[in-house]
Amino acid sequence: MSLLFQSLQLKNHTLQNRIVVSPMCQYSAEDGFANNWHLVHLGQFATGKAGLIMQEATAVVPEGRITYGDLGIWKDEHVPFLKNIVDFVHSQGSLMGIQLAHAGRKASTNKPWINRNQFLPNDVNGWQTVGVSPLPFRETDHPPVALSKDAIKQIIQDFKTAAQRAVNAGYDIIELHAAHGYLIHQFFSPLINNRTDEYGGSFENRIRFLIEIIEEVSKVLTTQSLWVRISATDWAEGGWTCYESVKLTQILKNINIEVIDVSTGGAVAHQQIPESENYQVPFANRIKTETGMITGAVGLINNAQQAETILQNKEADFISVARGFLQNPHLVYEFASQLNIAIDWAPQYERGKESF
Ligand code: FNR
Repeated sequence: MSLLFQSLQLKNHTLQNRIVVSPMCQYSAEDGFANNWHLVHLGQFATGKAGLIMQEATAVVPEGRITYGDLGIWKDEHVPFLKNIVDFVHSQGSLMGIQLAHAGRKASTNKPWINRNQFLPNDVNGWQTVGVSPLPFRETDHPPVALSKDAIKQIIQDFKTAAQRAVNAGYDIIELHAAHGYLIHQFFSPLINNRTDEYGGSFENRIRFLIEIIEEVSKVLTTQSLWVRISATDWAEGGWTCYESVKLTQILKNINIEVIDVSTGGAVAHQQIPESENYQVPFANRIKTETGMITGAVGLINNAQQAETILQNKEADFISVARGFLQNPHLVYEFASQLNIAIDWAPQYERGKESF
C-alpha cells in the first residue's frame, strides 16, 4: 500500500497526497507583485495534482527580499493577484501555501541568472540590508545594519500584517522561513548572532525572535496551518545544530506549529555540505522521532520509490521536491506511474494516458 499517495490529514486541511512542491523563488515580480508568470508556474503544479504547492519566499517588507524580483506581501495591493492564484490552485484540488520571509543580511542581491552579487545600498536595484549583527554573509558584501530592539519589534509586526494579508488571500498554509541563512535563521546561528541583549547568547535568546513572530502571527489565523522551515544544521563548526533543532521543534509543537519542514545549511559561506541522495533525510527523521511533530523531508528526492521508502521507514510524513518539479511540472503523474498506481489526472489531461 503506497503511503506517497495516501492523503495527509492536518487539523483543518487535507493534502490529497504526500508530495509537496517546495518553495522556489522565481525572481520575476515587480515591486513584489505576482503576475501571469507566477499564475502559470504555480498553476501547472495544481493541474498536476500536487498535494500542496508552497509559494516562494514572499517578503514581508521590501528590504526583506533576496532580489528586487522577489514576491512580496507588504501591501494590501499585493493581495488580489495572489488570491487569483490561490483560487485557481484550489479549483484543481491542491492546497496552497505561502512562505513568509525576510532575507536579512542576504538581501539586495541580483537575480541568479545574471549573477549572485549583492548590490550596494545606493544601487537602483539594491538597498541597505539589516541583520541580527553587522557581520556580512560574504566578506565582499556591504555590512548589514544590526537591528535595534525597536526594529526587531517592527519586523515582528510586519510578519503579523503579512500573515493577515495571506489569510485574506485564502492560503491554507503559512510557512515561516527560518532556514537557509535568512533573517530568522540569522538569529538562531551563533556564527552570526553575536548580540548581548535578550535576542543573543543562550538558545532561548536566539530563538526568541521566531517565538515572538509566532505569537503575533497566531493572533490573525483562522483555519490556517502554521509551519516552520528550518535548517537543521549549519554544516559548520560552532553553528546551529540538529540537537538545537530538536529542542526548538519540541517548543514549537506546544505553540501552534503543526509541521516542521526540514532543510539544512545557508547560514555561512564556509559551510561544508555533503550533498548526495537523501542527505537531509536523517535530520527530518531525528526531529520526527524525537518530537513526534509532523515532518517534511526535502533535498535530492527525485524518484517515486525513493520517496515512498522515506515514508515507509517513517523518516518523514511527506516529501517536498523543488528542482524535480521544474524538470517535470507533472511529476506527481510520473511518480504514480513509477509506483504503478492509478490516480485521477485533470480531466482535460486524461487522454494523455492513451498510448499513440
Ligand atoms: C529554492 N529553494 C528555496 N527554498 C526555500 O525555502 N524558499 C525559496 O524561496 C527557495 N527558492 C528556491 C528557488 C529555486 C529555483 C530552487 C531550485 C530552490 C530550495 C528548495 O525549496 C529545496 O529545498 C532545494 O532545492 C532542495 O530540493 P531539491 O531541489 O533537491 O528537490
